[in-house]
Amino acid sequence: MGYSFDGCDTVALAREYGTPLYVISERMVRERLSEIRTTFLDRHGNTFALYASKALLTLDICRIVASEGMGLDVVSGGEIHTAHRAGFPMERVYFHGNNKSREELELAVSLGVGRIVVDNVHELDLLIGVATAHAGPRPRILFRITPGVAGHTHKYISTGQVDSKFGIPLDGDVLERAVRTALDSDAVELFGFHAHIGSQLHANDAFRQATGVLLDLVKQMEAIGLTTRELNLGGGYGVRYTTDDDPKPLRYFTDAMMEDVAHHCARLDIPVPRIVIEPGRWIVAEAGITLYTVGSIKEIPGVRTYVSVDGGMTDNPRPALYGARYAALVADRPDDPADSLVTVAGKCCESGDILIRDIGLQRPRPGDTLVVFTTGAYNHSMANTYNLLPRPAMVLTDGGAHRLSVRRETYDDLLAREVTLPGEVTC
Ligand code: LLP
Repeated sequence: MGYSFDGCDTVALAREYGTPLYVISERMVRERLSEIRTTFLDRHGNTFALYASKALLTLDICRIVASEGMGLDVVSGGEIHTAHRAGFPMERVYFHGNNKSREELELAVSLGVGRIVVDNVHELDLLIGVATAHAGPRPRILFRITPGVAGHTHKYISTGQVDSKFGIPLDGDVLERAVRTALDSDAVELFGFHAHIGSQLHANDAFRQATGVLLDLVKQMEAIGLTTRELNLGGGYGVRYTTDDDPKPLRYFTDAMMEDVAHHCARLDIPVPRIVIEPGRWIVAEAGITLYTVGSIKEIPGVRTYVSVDGGMTDNPRPALYGARYAALVADRPDDPADSLVTVAGKCCESGDILIRDIGLQRPRPGDTLVVFTTGAYNHSMANTYNLLPRPAMVLTDGGAHRLSVRRETYDDLLAREVTLPGEVTC
């Protein structure tokens, strides 16, 4: 019996479905969604929660999120299309992004997405044009604000600081002019503001600062005739990748945020707007693992032992991009001592294709199944086909049951977009 994940033997899963294999526990995703319900939505009136689908989006994930009554944060035409094809209630979809195209805005408006989070004045003009031509119900919008607050995280996933490509800055009069334009327009309906300060955050101080900044803004905008009905405070709650991470419970973030909202609204004498949160990683990261098969093992005496697996930076670019650390074990002998210090390498033609540098494992052998933990977020969604490695399959588990959710990419899938037919090429 190999290592068990959500009641399923991972060695048996690797045999049945092949590797590399993403395994996502539907049960664990639902547990997180229900924790959002009990600790946030049920305890605070006039609130809403979205799942940030960039972390992991499949038709099955849409189905799970929809059935738990939550909304979806999307950032592209592709994500909108996926939600629509899944039958996701479009009025619960929030459309983000710093450079939405006219076509994407047309798609969003024609499908009736619930909110368009307008990132800049260029987009506001574009959207007013699209909405005027559409002549349907007025799109409801939020403005994304750069609150000038920096989260303590990797600089590539920090977004709230002044020097950011996202959002409208608070200094200067750009925001005030944008608010006036929206208020004067018959084409859009301005509901409020949004800020997202960063990702994989373990402290709530930056959230608290951003909440204060946004509520001051609400007060300021009251003076020019805007009643803010909604504030979206973003996502970013941290998870455990290795024992170095000490993630706080959800209520550590949301309780503080809601206390601050109540405090600032009373201080400023403004009505409490609807508060929206939109975590992605927190919902799916720990509900996912990746299974690999160990292949070649290269021992360089006195230097390092490389254990190569049949995936790598193609199915998980996070170590190469952010220096992200992961925990792992050998599924065949999970109870053996993890006393073999090795480096887990991927199979790409790239020296930087290292999944885990210097980790203690249970003496890996060729043919073993390796489990890498906490891969539910930003793995499948960031996978690529470098070296023309087909992308992995995905299996959904549910307390001992398992089924294929996304099939493995085939070699012919890799050629599916080529216009020249294989038979036409003579080399
Ligand atoms: N809302 C907005 C507007 C966002 O931009 C993001 C993430 C989220 C919510 C969800 O953040 P989360 O709760 O998942 O931390 N690829 C990177 C993460 C990029 C996050 C981008 N935006 C990674 O693998 O760490």
